[in-house]
Amino acid sequence: MKLEIVDLHASVGGKKILNGVSLVINSGEFHVIMGPNGSGKTTLAKAIMGSPEVEVTEGRILVDGVLINDLSPDKRANLGLFLQFQNPVEIGGVGYVNFLRSVAEKRIGGTVSIKELMNEIKDYTNKLHIDQGIVGRSLNEGFSGGEKKKSEILQMAVLKPKIAILDEPDSGLDVDAVRVVANNISEISEKSGMGILIITHYNRILSYMKPQFAHVLYNGKIVYDGAADAVDEIEKNGYEKFIG
Ligand SMILES: Nc1ncnc2c1ncn2[C@@H]1O[C@H](COP(=O)(O)OP(=O)(O)O)[C@@H](O)[C@H]1O
Ligand SMILES: [Mg+2]
Repeated sequence: MKLEIVDLHASVGGKKILNGVSLVINSGEFHVIMGPNGSGKTTLAKAIMGSPEVEVTEGRILVDGVLINDLSPDKRANLGLFLQFQNPVEIGGVGYVNFLRSVAEKRIGGTVSIKELMNEIKDYTNKLHIDQGIVGRSLNEGFSGGEKKKSEILQMAVLKPKIAILDEPDSGLDVDAVRVVANNISEISEKSGMGILIITHYNRILSYMKPQFAHVLYNGKIVYDGAADAVDEIEKNGYEKFIG
């Protein structure tokens, strides 16, 4: 799958946040987006997923050459796009397993065997060091910050999107959890050939993963597009070189 963002302009609450962002991500590729707080990273992720909070005022979002600007978020998910939220919401009354099953069935357009799903959930709760007990709960309800983040990686493993956007999957995690999450993201993406766009502030998670491309977003514009060694430059000297 090819995701193309062409000269995207977008506003949140009437405030212009994205000022002409262009980006191409293919399945199988691993991209990282960095950028100072408030530069528009989360807004970009939400715009790609079709969040109603973000108003796209100009530009195009294309999947395999087809314009998806007007598609609803769930239709975008059915195409194979996935967004891990920076701050996952709690959804009371929606059982974890039922939620995953219904989303997975929409995604593949067929039936998902409950037994296979349970096996997969068990496998990834082990790999991600998540308490099995979450399976009996409502989605994200009462989950700790770390459990919410890990739970979204579990969802990604089950749903097998073609391109996943992960908004700060490392925020709020302790050092062991960062390693576990990073290793699982790498394993899941390699196994399924998915494309990854990871938004992060920190080098640590990237020391367990090997991004191929880096992008720096500043004031709603891409100010760097290139090799991933920019990440080391940012770690050492901050954003000065890119935004100065
Ligand atoms: N609901 C909102 N109303 C007005 N401004 C917002 C809203 N949400 C985000 N913003 C502003 O949009 C800008 C970009 O935010 P965001 O995309 O979250 O940045 P990042 O993820 O890079 O830190 C910030 O200046 C932020 O204050
Ligand atoms: Mg953000």
